[in-house]
Amino acid sequence: MSGAEKGELLHVRVEDVKIPRWKATGSRTYYCKIMVALLLLILVLQHALSVFARTPRIARQVAGVPQYVLDYAPLVWLDIGEEYFPSDMYAQVTNTHPEINLTSIADPPAPLTLHNLHVLNDYGNDGMNVYLTSNMDVTEGPKWLDGVVPDSRGKTKRAISCAIIVNDHGSGNLDTFYMYFYAYNLGNTVLGRELGDHIGDWEHNMIRFEDGVPQAIWYSQHANGQAFTYKAVEKEGLRPITYSAVGSHANYAIVGAHDHAIPDLNLPVGFLLDFTSQGTLWDPTLSTYFYNYQAETGSFESVNGSPLGAMHFKGKWGDQQYPDSDPKQPPPFFGFRKFVGGPSGPWDKQLNRTNVCPETGIPCIVRDILGP
Ligand SMILES: *[C@@H]1O[C@H](CO)[C@@H](O)[C@H](O)[C@H]1NC(C)=O
Ligand SMILES: *[C@@H]1O[C@H](CO)[C@@H](O)[C@H](O)[C@H]1NC(C)=O
Repeated sequence: MSGAEKGELLHVRVEDVKIPRWKATGSRTYYCKIMVALLLLILVLQHALSVFARTPRIARQVAGVPQYVLDYAPLVWLDIGEEYFPSDMYAQVTNTHPEINLTSIADPPAPLTLHNLHVLNDYGNDGMNVYLTSNMDVTEGPKWLDGVVPDSRGKTKRAISCAIIVNDHGSGNLDTFYMYFYAYNLGNTVLGRELGDHIGDWEHNMIRFEDGVPQAIWYSQHANGQAFTYKAVEKEGLRPITYSAVGSHANYAIVGAHDHAIPDLNLPVGFLLDFTSQGTLWDPTLSTYFYNYQAETGSFESVNGSPLGAMHFKGKWGDQQYPDSDPKQPPPFFGFRKFVGGPSGPWDKQLNRTNVCPETGIPCIVRDILGP
């Protein structure tokens, strides 16, 4: 189905190309020479592109992780204008202290690490009211919020910025969550006002496999997201492509502008736009932790020594929303704030799903055609 559609698309495109008729044809041989030169150029370009496309991105091998989980792992295009890159999960701990209700926890267990972070679940409603809160004033732009620009191989060097979580449902059914971590989420600008910034940002793709064959992929976007068949999405080799929106890091399957919404804020269509483009390519598998998820107990199992505290911690990965009395918080704009609260971690992303989409009350549509 999708193969035929691709063929059709190509066919239509070729027909659509208008070849200009040269009225004053001039020398016919001149025209022929140009055509030959063009053809040669196209051949050379095609060859160069196919060599590039065939350059294998060496999939890693990790003991305890099914090879197909790595072979089909998404590659992420960060936007050309991105300022807040994938970030080291541990840096989020070292640059913050835990607070509840805007007050530091007195004498928290120290030092906190990604291995023991879940000790904070002993505080504030099983940890859920605990906020890892920046030690520095975020309006002064501390460097750690910028994250790490992936290098030429796509690796965030010295920054583990991804958690790959496998939920094996048995009978060949296996879901893999590719959780992307950014230290900062820059919100959208609406009528000149920046809204919805927060410290800490978890986004994800989820791929549903049957007997090692990818079936569908989920792209997280703000409160919800989109699902596509594996066949439908853009790929490099076997690996699906994700486009991370500038600032918000919402995941999209295609480049361009994407209309979205802030829950409860009814703005006309086209008011809130995410943008994606091929800026910097990030390969999250090159700097990641790995886990297995046990649905029965809601617990994680470490693969390869990956730190469990980070997965079991039930608190938030960034500051609580600043009150309006805080000088960091500009006056609200139609009830919306520049700074909102930080997000909860991967445990809170519905890791045991029936559908490829999380349950949000919105029907789960798995699209088999790429679109906005
Ligand atoms: C949070 O702190 C404020 C100010 O200190 C206090 O009035 C309020 O009762 C606290 N709320 C909770 C839930 O502890
Ligand atoms: C996990 O999800 C599967 C598939 O939807 C379901 O059959 C199972 O009961 C769930 N397990 C738990 C513990 O919720």
